[in-house]
Amino acid sequence: MTPPSSFNSNFRYLVPILGFMLLCTLFLFSNLDFSTYSVSPASDASVSSLVTTTKALSSPSPVVLTAVDSIGSRPKETFSDLITTFDQWDKEVGCDRFQAKFKGWKVNASAVQEIDRHDCSELKMSHASVYVKLASWVPDILDGLYQCRCGLSCLWTRNEALADKADVWLWVTFHLQNRTEGDPLHAFFQIEAPRWRSGHEDIFISYHASSEVQATYAGKFFRIHRSYTVPNNKRDDVLVYWSSSNCLSHRDETAKKFLSLVSHHSMGKCLNNVGGGDMALTFYPDCQMEENPIPHWWDHLHCAMSHYKFVLAIENTFTESYVTEKLFYALDAGSVPIYFGAPNVWDLVPPNSIIDASKFKSIEELADYVKAVGEDPVAYAEFHAWRRCGVLGNYGKVRDASLDTLPCRLCEEASVRGGRKASLRTPS
Ligand SMILES: *[C@@H]1O[C@H](CO)[C@@H](O)[C@H](O)[C@H]1NC(C)=O
Ligand SMILES: *[C@@H]1O[C@H](CO)[C@@H](O)[C@H](O)[C@H]1NC(C)=O
Repeated sequence: MTPPSSFNSNFRYLVPILGFMLLCTLFLFSNLDFSTYSVSPASDASVSSLVTTTKALSSPSPVVLTAVDSIGSRPKETFSDLITTFDQWDKEVGCDRFQAKFKGWKVNASAVQEIDRHDCSELKMSHASVYVKLASWVPDILDGLYQCRCGLSCLWTRNEALADKADVWLWVTFHLQNRTEGDPLHAFFQIEAPRWRSGHEDIFISYHASSEVQATYAGKFFRIHRSYTVPNNKRDDVLVYWSSSNCLSHRDETAKKFLSLVSHHSMGKCLNNVGGGDMALTFYPDCQMEENPIPHWWDHLHCAMSHYKFVLAIENTFTESYVTEKLFYALDAGSVPIYFGAPNVWDLVPPNSIIDASKFKSIEELADYVKAVGEDPVAYAEFHAWRRCGVLGNYGKVRDASLDTLPCRLCEEASVRGGRKASLRTPS
């Protein structure tokens, strides 16, 4: 990369300017939790002097700068091929530097339950069974007999006959009543904010760590029918994917402001700009699931969004730890979520995996940033480093505490309480 052609002749004027920019940048770095970027392109000279001067300041832990810290310093480039961008990033940054940068990354460990939070000696039964009551969204794929930790086995079933001696009845609707002596424990699973309890449950399950059992959205089983076809090429003509058919006014307003500033496809009912709600398969025939002749939007959602560099994800409620499939689908699809939602989202996602809208002063600034990343293959590739360099932050725990592992964790909770033999709960 070459500095601007006027660089040499204007050098003596640039030095004080660059020095000032450097001071400003250092000031920003010392005040922000996460990487910052300069909207106006900085020359290579300022970036390399930033590295040296930062080292010279000899802060206790060395500041490791990566591609995201110098967005705007590389020439703008159109790109669509992921493998090539990953290769470029490996050469210019690489996992060692990425890991070094996030080594001391601070996350709140209490935001996610420990998978081994019970000591094996607390278990009162070596087998427990869960009967999933009433037809519900709980996916059939969870049904089965599990071998869990501490030698515990766990039967999870929607079949009443198989669960004739259930230790737990699991409800996902409000139909449950108080448990009577000798009945299975009552578990109530509420996936939405604001975590309404039924008032009749012994075991409350929700996305939040303060529940008796936590079930994060980071698992695969929320949608089992979907096309996992994902292309290696991202579109370079349209930057952002959005799909929403529950047109909440606050979400639509935010989306409208942001999407007016970037090229996008809005595929759902809200703010649709692709000529209808069923266009995904017309655009992306590769997303068709052959065994499913009547397509449902959720079949090809994952595949459709994977064609874009960015996916807009706006939660219906912005509250602590409520980080839903809207974000995790985008991550799983190999895209980069632009996220509006839980204030503590970084406690639940890997470092540098999303663009957190709350870190920007305005929607315009956010849009400029997204466009800059969309024209910088090395910086874009860095948003995928979390999946290429090994698990960092709380993300491993977040996967461990997902719906996918709920059967064993609920059986364990039942075993600790003694199943049907558990005493009736005392009113709180
Ligand atoms: C850490 O997370 C827990 C559970 O979500 C929360 O109650 C607590 O306030 C958080 N602590 C900090 C310092 O944010
Ligand atoms: C259910 O239990 C709670 C607390 O244990 C109690 O306050 C409530 O009155 C009970 N409801 C019924 C219908 O028995």
